[in-house]
This record gives sequence, C-alpha cells and structure tokens, in this order.
Amino acid sequence: MITGKFPSLRLRRNRKNDWSRRLVEENNLTSNDFILPIFLIEGKNKKQAIQTMPDVYRYTLDKIFYVIDGALKKGLPMVALFPYTEKNKKNALGTESLNEDNLICKAIQLIKKKYKNEIGIMCDVALDPYTSHGHDGLLKSKYVLNDETIEVLINQSLLQAQMGCDVLAPSDMMDGRIGKIRKSLDKNGFAMTQILSYAVKYASGFYGPFRDAVGSKGLLKSDKKNYQMDFRNKSEALREVSMDIKEGADMVMVKPGLPYLDIISLIKENFKIPVMAYQVSGEYSLISNGVKKGFVSKDIILESLIAFKRAGANAIISYYADRIDKIIK
Ligand code: PBG
Repeated sequence: MITGKFPSLRLRRNRKNDWSRRLVEENNLTSNDFILPIFLIEGKNKKQAIQTMPDVYRYTLDKIFYVIDGALKKGLPMVALFPYTEKNKKNALGTESLNEDNLICKAIQLIKKKYKNEIGIMCDVALDPYTSHGHDGLLKSKYVLNDETIEVLINQSLLQAQMGCDVLAPSDMMDGRIGKIRKSLDKNGFAMTQILSYAVKYASGFYGPFRDAVGSKGLLKSDKKNYQMDFRNKSEALREVSMDIKEGADMVMVKPGLPYLDIISLIKENFKIPVMAYQVSGEYSLISNGVKKGFVSKDIILESLIAFKRAGANAIISYYADRIDKIIK
C-alpha cells in the first residue's frame, strides 16, 4: 500500500505550506457535526454557573429562546435537554419523569411551539435526574432492576414523544429497552420518532461534573457498574451495538468520547449506522480548566474535537458546541 522511499519520497513536501496542508486535509468539522447539551432549572430569569464546568450554565425556561436562538445562529442541527431536578421532586421510583408538567416536558413544548422543525430536540431516557438514589432505574438491594425499569422508560419515552421530542436517547443501559421502546412508539403513532441509543456507555469517572450539573452527585452512593459497561471491554461494545440495531436504533452513541476513540472506530468499521460521540463533562472540565490555568493552549479544543471525526464519529455532543464557530475558524 505504501510505495516509494526516501529521498525521492518526502512526506514533508505536502506539509510545507498552509495552502497545501489545506488541500490534503482528510478530516474537518462544521457546525452540522455538533449537538449542544442544555441544562434546565426551575424558576425565573436565572443563568446559573456550574462550578465544575467553566462557561456552562443552567437556564430557567424563560431563557430558553435565548439559548436556542444562539444554537440556531451557529447552525447547530440539534440540542439535548437535561433537567436539574429539585430534591423534593425526587423519589426512589423517579416518578417525576412521568409528570407531564416536568421541566423537560415544558421545555420541549416551548421549543417546538416556537421553532417547529428548525432544530432537533433530543432527550435522555433514564431515571437518574429523578431518583433519590441517583441511579438510572429502579433499585432493589443495590441492583438496578432491568425489566421493571424498562416499563417506566417506555412511559417516559412516550411522554417525551407526545410533547414533541424528535430524538429519544435511552442512556440507561438496560438490556432490551430499545426494542420495547420502539414497539410502544410505533403502536402509539410515533413511528417517525427517532431513537439514538446510548449503546456503548461505560461506567466512567468522567461523568462527575454532569452529576453535579443535574443535582444527583451527593445522592449516588454506589457506582453504576452493574448496568454500564466495564471499561476493560471492547468486543462487548460490538454486541451492545448489534443488539440495539436489531431492536430498531436509528443511531448509536459511544460515551465517554476521547478515551474511547478505539471503540468509535471499531463500530464504524463493523456497522453502517450513524455513530455519535459524547465528549462528556469530565473531558470538558479537564480541557477547559487546563486552558484557563494556562497549562495547555486552547488549540487542544479543536485538536480533541477533530480526533472524534478522524475516529469516524458522525457528530459530537459537546459542551463547546455553543462556541463552535470560534473554535473551527
Ligand atoms: C444519565 C446521563 C449521564 C450523562 C448523560 N446522561 C450520567 C450518568 O450516566 O451517570 C453524562 C454526561 C456527561 O458527563 O457529560 N444517564
């Protein structure tokens, strides 16, 4: 495959000038490659800083148009909504997830009413923002129940679809939930609602700041290893993805992002399905704080985002998405 040898072959020739480097570039980013996560809180007129995530905020619903207008101006195709749930609304069963007046439902309706199909809305399907124990499903002596949890997730999915959510993103890692959710959506008139499965989600320390952002940090007393994937495993990722494709996933996600580029690449080679990568809160926090302190140049933001593309990701969920125009310029 590689022909020629030094000195007739000099790979530095193509690298000599900027115009030449641009000419032979293999990967690039546009605003179409990004999904912006948005954290929501109850109340009025608040833009609340998140301590562990520089330049990321929680917004009250009266500020949502300001955030979506910003996303549209940058040309982002989709936003992902995440609620910060007040403690008094959490319980062991996560019943707030099924409340049609919850923060997420109100946000979806507001956005859909004003913007119609100008921008996509993605919502997590999982119970962790709503449970008093911080787990993604129903808990029985430290074990998250699979089939019982799915029954709740089906209802959460239907509710979000009814509100107008375009892309449901089950992030719970229960076995078999994609098929069950797909079936119930189809039966109830939502055959065109998309499913983006968090198919390969590792039990990771990189989610720390996110749990702070949605208010589940202090609540979680144990890890999520009995449902999220073991970070020592790779082949298992293929099994997860093939299972979700058979069950009806339209797209799959790999999460976290940068430490798992091998997994993105492996999935891209083995399946012809859109693969999303999630540059998670811990990755964001490390990079942003490193840049802020002057330990590393801000150029590493673009470098790390391009790496996702090079690995084969179709799009990236990133907390940098709202500033992507400046980053890729
Ligand atoms: C909830 C969920 C998590 C993230 C997205 N959805 C956290 C978790 O599973 O504990 C993490 C996102 C991030 O860290 O940016 N299931």
